[in-house]
Amino acid sequence: MNIIIQKLKRIYWYINLINRTIFNHGLIKVTANKGQWEKRYPPLKSLNKTAKLFNKINGKVIVEIGSGIHGNYSQYSGDSCLKWAKKTNAKVIKCVDLDPKMVEAVAEATKEFDALEAVLDDGLDFLSKTELKIDLLLLDFWADEPDDSFGSGRAEKYLEAYMNGKDKMSPKSLILIDDTDHAPPWKDTYIVPEARKDGFKVIYIGRQTLLARGIENPNI
Ligand SMILES: C[S@@+](CC[C@H](N)C(=O)[O-])C[C@H]1O[C@@H](n2cnc3c(N)ncnc32)[C@H](O)[C@@H]1O
Repeated sequence: MNIIIQKLKRIYWYINLINRTIFNHGLIKVTANKGQWEKRYPPLKSLNKTAKLFNKINGKVIVEIGSGIHGNYSQYSGDSCLKWAKKTNAKVIKCVDLDPKMVEAVAEATKEFDALEAVLDDGLDFLSKTELKIDLLLLDFWADEPDDSFGSGRAEKYLEAYMNGKDKMSPKSLILIDDTDHAPPWKDTYIVPEARKDGFKVIYIGRQTLLARGIENPNI
């Protein structure tokens, strides 16, 4: 049954694409397909690539803003914190979330990993006050979207997070932004030009966007 639904969804997506191309001259309604104009992929490949690059630069510190564990409590989590714990050589992993239940779930699921701490805090405040030197920053938190702002709310909040944390980023470091397979303005829209001023380069875009600086050959 699931497969049939998936196939029907895929057909619907292609019909939309043809409709958009032939009849709308490439114009996309801002409300179309919830703003997602490409087929949605899981973030797994990107998380793995980032973990590999993090190890290659001998990264030590990971900060994740917007954490969570997929399970009874949340269906929206992809368990990125577990990925860092299992696939990187990080000495410090701070998984920050402002939902106490999410923090509890992360702490429970990761208790065997000494490097990882589930932190209850607003990620934007955490980034302002942390004294850590961050080698990898994952931004994957929710942000309120005022009516009719179609993503600007997210774009502004993500920029704010970057501005709060930018002085804490190591000279050689990575920034990973989730959910960037979306029509702009969205989570990556304001950060990318700002981070480029600070020497970050875009390594890839899509389901997630990876930025890196100070790394000789960042293509993995
Ligand atoms: C999509 S989930 C994160 C998924 C997680 N990165 C994963 O891959 O499993 C988004 C999380 O952001 C959290 N959140 C929302 N606003 C936040 C904020 N200002 N600071 C920290 N966490 C926040 C929510 O409570 C939610 O758990």
